[in-house]
Amino acid sequence: MHLPPEDLIPAPLPPDWPEPEALGFGQYLGPYLIEAGHSDTAGWAAPVVTPRAAAPVAVASGVTQYGLSVFEGIKAYRGHDGRVHLFRPFDHARRLRASARRLAMPEPPDELFMQLARLAVQVHERYVPPHGRGALYLRPTLFADEECLGLRPARHHRFSIAVMPCSDPAPKTLRLWAEPELIRAAPGGLGAAKTGANYAAGIGGLLRARERGYDDVAWLDAATHTRLGEAGTMNLFVQIGAEVLTPPLDGTILAGITRDSVIRLLRETGTRVSEQAVSLDELATAQTAGVLGTAFGVGTAARLVRITEVSDDRRFLTFPDTGLTTDLAAALKAVQEGPAPGRADDRHSDWRVAVT
Ligand SMILES: Cc1ncc(COP(=O)(O)O)c(C=O)c1O
Repeated sequence: MHLPPEDLIPAPLPPDWPEPEALGFGQYLGPYLIEAGHSDTAGWAAPVVTPRAAAPVAVASGVTQYGLSVFEGIKAYRGHDGRVHLFRPFDHARRLRASARRLAMPEPPDELFMQLARLAVQVHERYVPPHGRGALYLRPTLFADEECLGLRPARHHRFSIAVMPCSDPAPKTLRLWAEPELIRAAPGGLGAAKTGANYAAGIGGLLRARERGYDDVAWLDAATHTRLGEAGTMNLFVQIGAEVLTPPLDGTILAGITRDSVIRLLRETGTRVSEQAVSLDELATAQTAGVLGTAFGVGTAARLVRITEVSDDRRFLTFPDTGLTTDLAAALKAVQEGPAPGRADDRHSDWRVAVT
């Protein structure tokens, strides 16, 4: 069933809808999908709004059989003035195209990405929490829905946006297990693409971390198992002395939009940030020398979370709170959600694109 958007905007909230603080992350989905089909002969079709629960996926499709799916995670926030904006949507659109290219899928043009994203927010406008109390998380997903059991690029795809209202991330700290055996990605593989296979490869590591009492996994490089990569859904930063280090974009980790935002915010305050390999041994040496500072993870879902410990079987690295993350998290929240009215130093207003 395809419903015309004008009949839906804005979709009403169910009567027992929770307060923003009780939404959490991952539990509540908006009622509609905003979709556009693609065939290799006809190109992109016009967007449609369709009830989420009614959208079928065929067992013999490319997405089900071969994991032909790439996606994004992007947040829409309500500003002080009540209007809703997306955070760095063009960067998410560009990354989706790069992921699609890696998996030989059609690349959604930026205009289509924006058209669907705008419609997704407008249809679910009432699901966007008030300013400062959460966000509407958008999950744009491109997948092969053609039924074909032969291995080849698919000839029919769907580009579909599901939405999920979520709470503002709760303050917490994390302990990470540096996984010594399993790997998430290797050079030449899919690590830089936001595709289901990477998360499928990662879920075993997450379980192993949890079994050992850790919150999440810190992935290490595939060849030597010594260099930090990223966490399950976050890029990593560590402070040594006055410098902040983050692993380079070497094709094995995701080029996080939050990572880029944080690098820029840090550099603007005069902090030296180096995109360079960070080994566990180097961190252990810094710990012994007393110069190991804060560590933190960043990503769209969690924003910025301080990491207190990274350990494998042999090394136990503990990261003190040097105060760096408190100001940085506040600066990131302000730039994502929009600063208080009258603030003159809103230098990244172009990162927010109004959609209502
Ligand atoms: C594996 C992985 N790394 C890093 C990130 C952070 O990326 P971003 O800041 O663009 O959300 C995510 C989240 O999307 C992720 O899934």
